[in-house]
Amino acid sequence: MAKKDFSKYFKKPNMKESKKRSYLEVEKVDGTIDNKFLNLGKFKTYYLRTYGCQMNEHDTEIIAGILEQMKFKRTDKPEEADILLFNTCAIRANSENKVIGEIGRLSYLKKFNPDIIFGLCGCMSQESEIVDKILKTYTFIDLIFGTHNIHRLPILLSEAMFNKVRVIEVWSQEGEIVENLPKSRSSQKSAWVNIIYGCDKFCTYCIVPYTRGKERSRSKDDILFEIKKLKEDGFMEVTLLGQNVNAYGKDLNNNYTMANLLEDAAKIGIDRVRFTTSHPWDFDDEMVEIIGKYDNIMPHIHLPVQSGNNEILKIMGRSYTREMYIELFKKLKKAKPNINITTDIIVGYPNETTKQFLDTISLYEECKFDGAFSFIYSPREGTPAAKMNDNIPLEVKKERLYELHEVINKYSKASYEKEKDKIVDVLVIGPSNKNKNILAGYTGKNQLVLLPGSYDLIDNIVQVKIDKPRNTALLGIYIENKIEE
Ligand code: 5AD
Ligand code: SF4
Repeated sequence: MAKKDFSKYFKKPNMKESKKRSYLEVEKVDGTIDNKFLNLGKFKTYYLRTYGCQMNEHDTEIIAGILEQMKFKRTDKPEEADILLFNTCAIRANSENKVIGEIGRLSYLKKFNPDIIFGLCGCMSQESEIVDKILKTYTFIDLIFGTHNIHRLPILLSEAMFNKVRVIEVWSQEGEIVENLPKSRSSQKSAWVNIIYGCDKFCTYCIVPYTRGKERSRSKDDILFEIKKLKEDGFMEVTLLGQNVNAYGKDLNNNYTMANLLEDAAKIGIDRVRFTTSHPWDFDDEMVEIIGKYDNIMPHIHLPVQSGNNEILKIMGRSYTREMYIELFKKLKKAKPNINITTDIIVGYPNETTKQFLDTISLYEECKFDGAFSFIYSPREGTPAAKMNDNIPLEVKKERLYELHEVINKYSKASYEKEKDKIVDVLVIGPSNKNKNILAGYTGKNQLVLLPGSYDLIDNIVQVKIDKPRNTALLGIYIENKIEE
């Protein structure tokens, strides 16, 4: 049967709408899945691929949870799947190109089996330009749903499956906070916990405030209940998640801040508490104090700086200066002397001069970061920076990125070398990707450790003596008996 073009669910995104911020209070709703959808996936399989950040990884756990409650079974082989879903990232053009390439490559599957459902969700689905392109060019895509529509998946999927129509539902603005959605977690020891959705910072280069909506904090009771439950279920690590976690609570107007939440989370007594990502602007002294006070708040902070030049920071709309960043950096090092600090940097911002770029290098030399993600600026349609003229050739940007990499590598190597001969706690997560005879895990500082050992060590925090620091990992030896200090 030929596919009807659109269903009653046809709502495309609109970037102008997604920029708007409503001051209405955000309601909380229950996301428990209606019984009528619970057998929809019987004898069917799904393939789900994730691109992008931790937020997306956790959304994938929720999407998988929903599908599994509907009795779909997961497969990692796209050619076996009845449903193929791509949870996408829009942060840079190359993130999008990867998705488009992969979907195009798998489109042949539809020729063999016209009944399979191809779906796209995540940040790319929130972009009007992308959705228009898909509607025109990628006609084999049956389902598009936005970051605010995940809880609607059972309805949308059943419509696409039974009515053989193209279903598009992307709300440009956020809806309610949906609690009680099922989750199929990828680890049974380390869990993501959403604390705040969206972002109101509107850095001039960034598409996230458009794709993820306004800042909405979950209630402290829901968050702390989730962490307590995770602890009871044997989880050893939680990572509090948000685009800008330090803004937690500001929208709730109840004087309960990120510092309060972090302290209450630490007090639950789970072995490891982490949080990501922090914006330096919202990072107050109470937060610094709490990080120093609790040993189970892990000694690693990801604190994106983006640039070391004040003019560029201003054009980026980052609201802090180089000096303010360095002051915060020093406070954190003082409060928790063993802390590792990593960062994000963008090079080649429109019209960035050599001098401005060298300020970033000098900031890096001053902070000696333990690691960094670095990117060439990528214009994002609809953001203010995309409208700026840019007189810096791509070749120059590539040279700058290369020069920055040299500095990043120098300090990250030094950071790994500092661990030599130390005995560190490692949460063993499984066999290493490259060598199944070696185990992989992470230290409190979030450094990758590779060690020989039996699979019984997986999902435990064990002591490891670091004997060979390498450039991107620490090689160590498992110590059988915990050494009492
Ligand atoms: N171009 C390049 N890098 C970007 N980032 C965000 N938006 C862009 C863009 N348009 C980087 C920032 C951010 C990280 C997640 O991605 O460094 O911290
Ligand atoms: Fe995550 Fe941002 Fe990429 Fe969306 S655009 S997946 S929020 S990094």
